[in-house]
Amino acid sequence: MGAERYVLANFKMNKNLFEVKKWADEFLSLLYKGKKLSLKVGCAPTFIYIKALKEIVIGTGFLVGAQNMHFEEKGAFTGEVSPTQLKDIGVDFVIIGHSERRNIFGESDELISKKLLSALKHNILPVLCVGETKEEREKGETEKVLIKQISILSKIPDELKNQKIVIAYEPVWAIGTGIPATKDKIEKAVELIREEASKFIKDFSVLYGGSIDEKVAEEIKDICDGGLVGTASLDPQKFYKISQNFDV
Ligand code: 13P
Repeated sequence: MGAERYVLANFKMNKNLFEVKKWADEFLSLLYKGKKLSLKVGCAPTFIYIKALKEIVIGTGFLVGAQNMHFEEKGAFTGEVSPTQLKDIGVDFVIIGHSERRNIFGESDELISKKLLSALKHNILPVLCVGETKEEREKGETEKVLIKQISILSKIPDELKNQKIVIAYEPVWAIGTGIPATKDKIEKAVELIREEASKFIKDFSVLYGGSIDEKVAEEIKDICDGGLVGTASLDPQKFYKISQNFDV
């Protein structure tokens, strides 16, 4: 049996409450009208809209996620949100180590590793993002960077090793540029990620993210297990088409 397939939306810091609700209504009506999808679909809105989204999609199997979380359950961490708080409002998955968190907010592999372990411990599906910058690719360091980022999986203790993890290959240079990585580059990176991750864990899916549109989804549907979608996910029609194209 192949790995579980996912198409997940990352809204980043976009949409207001009205727009999130409208998006969810439109996406669900497309889901109900269309062919039943066999893959899992979900969305990570901004923290403050998670609850509203969950209320709309409850009972549909649609996954609701957070874009970040702190690793501690509680404490003096102004501005942070804990795994228990996320569980409390029904969060299914959490994006960890997104390149915008790594590069704009200075998150290190060490911090990302703590968040990953905390998500696993609290039964929230982690979506671990990895990927090289333009500069790293140009210096021929892509493999080295991916191997290092994946190596945090070695810290997972035995009792959490059988839990599912989603890994998203998101080359930084392809994010938000409208220029996705080529199929060849995605295939090579995804292969390496699978090889490295399988040294530490058994149950994982590898997604691609970075300027995905429906054409990219159709092109790469057989080489990865789905997608993490930014810009194109903001339009429910486009996100639905991408989901359909990844549904093999
Ligand atoms: P874009 O689809 O806008 O390139 O964003 C990808 C991404 O960062 C998803 O996490």
